[in-house]
Amino acid sequence: MSEARKFDFAVGRTNPATFPIERVQRAAHAAIAREFAEITEYPGRLGHPSLRQVMARRESEREGVAVDADLISLMNGSMQAVTLTAEALTKPGDTVVLEELTYGGTIGAYRTLGIDMQGLPVDEDGMKVELLEAKLDELGEGERKPKFIYVLTTYQNPTGAMMSLPRRRRLIDIARERDIPVVEDNCYGDVHFDGDKPPSLYALSDYDKIIYMCSLSKILAPGMRLGYLYAQQELLDRILSRRHDAGGNYLAAAIVAELYRDGVWDLTEELNVSLATKKNLVVDGLAAEAADVCAWSNPAGGLFVWVRFPEDVDQDKLLQLTAEAGFHYAQGANFHIAGERVPYLRLAFGHVPDDDIRDGIPVLAHCIRQSRTSNLPPAFAGLFD
Ligand SMILES: Cc1ncc(COP(=O)(O)O)c(C=O)c1O
Repeated sequence: MSEARKFDFAVGRTNPATFPIERVQRAAHAAIAREFAEITEYPGRLGHPSLRQVMARRESEREGVAVDADLISLMNGSMQAVTLTAEALTKPGDTVVLEELTYGGTIGAYRTLGIDMQGLPVDEDGMKVELLEAKLDELGEGERKPKFIYVLTTYQNPTGAMMSLPRRRRLIDIARERDIPVVEDNCYGDVHFDGDKPPSLYALSDYDKIIYMCSLSKILAPGMRLGYLYAQQELLDRILSRRHDAGGNYLAAAIVAELYRDGVWDLTEELNVSLATKKNLVVDGLAAEAADVCAWSNPAGGLFVWVRFPEDVDQDKLLQLTAEAGFHYAQGANFHIAGERVPYLRLAFGHVPDDDIRDGIPVLAHCIRQSRTSNLPPAFAGLFD
C-alpha cells in the first residue's frame, strides 16, 4: 500500500497558505516585549484578560448581544472545554443527548468518561429537534435523564448542516422546560462563506444553562491550542472547579490578543475567501465526476464536505484503493456515536492545495465506482433521504 498522502482530505485544519506569518511575527515581538513579566506567572482559571476581551468582542459583534469577558475562560483548544464540561457535569453511566453524527473527538472523550450517548438524527437543518421530546420522555426523569444536550449548531461536523432558527428556538424551549443544560459547540461559526446565519443559542435566550464553546483553531491555527468556554457564573464555576492545569498557554494568548487587537474579521475573511474557493472546487468536482453515484453537502461554511455513497460500496476495498492512490479521507464511522459504518465519508478541504482538489476528486470518484458490488442506481434521493 502506498504511504504517500498526496490527496490528504482526512483531518480538518485551516489553510497554511493564508497563515499571516509576518503579522503573527510582529504580534509575538510586541507581546513578548510588553508581557514578559506576566508570562513568568501562572495564568489562572480564566486566562489572558485581553484575549478574553477580544473573544467577547468577537462574540458580541457576531451575535449582536453583550458578552462579559469575565464569563469567558480560555482553554487548550475548544476540546478542553468539551472534556471539562463533560467531566464536571457527568459521572460514568450518565446520559447525554447529542447528534447521532458528531465530532469524533467528542465521541472519544465521552466514551472514555463512560457517558451513555443517546443520538438524534441530523438532516440539512441540523439535529432533528422534533424528535427530542420523545427521546427525553423515553429516558425519563430518573437516573437516565440527560445531564446535558451537546449540539453542533453551525456548520456541523461532519455534515456541514446549519441548525435552523425554529429548531434552535425549540431546542432551547425544551431544554429550559426540562431543566437540562445545552452545550453549544460553535467552533466553525466564523468559517463562513455566504448567506445568513441564525444566532447562536446564547444570543437567542436568557436561559442560564447554555454552555458555549468556540475556538481559534478554525479561524487561525489549531497549533495555537486556543479555545474558550462561555457560560453563566454558576455553571462556569462548576465546570472550572474541575480545572487543575493552572490555566492555558499565556504566551500564545498574548500573541493572538495582539494579532487581533483590532478585531478578528479582516484575517478571518481573508481565510474564508480561500476556503470558499476550495469548497467550491470539491463540490464542482463531485458534480462533474460522481453525480450518478454520490450525494454531498454544499455547506455555507465550515471545513468539510460530507459525501454519501451507495450502500453496496465495499468500504474496506474503498479504503484500500484510495490509500493506494494516495487519497485519504475520514470514514463515516468515525463520526457515528456507535461507530456504525454508515455509507458516508468526510472530505476536509481547508488545507488542501487547489490543484490537489482538482486532481483528487476524480481519483475518489473512480475508487468509489471500483468499490461497488453492483451496478444498480444508488437507493437514495439525497444526502439524508
Ligand atoms: C465540533 C468540534 N469541536 C471541537 C473541536 C476541537 O477543536 P480545538 O480543540 O482545536 O479547538 C473540533 C475540531 O475539529 C470540532 O470539530
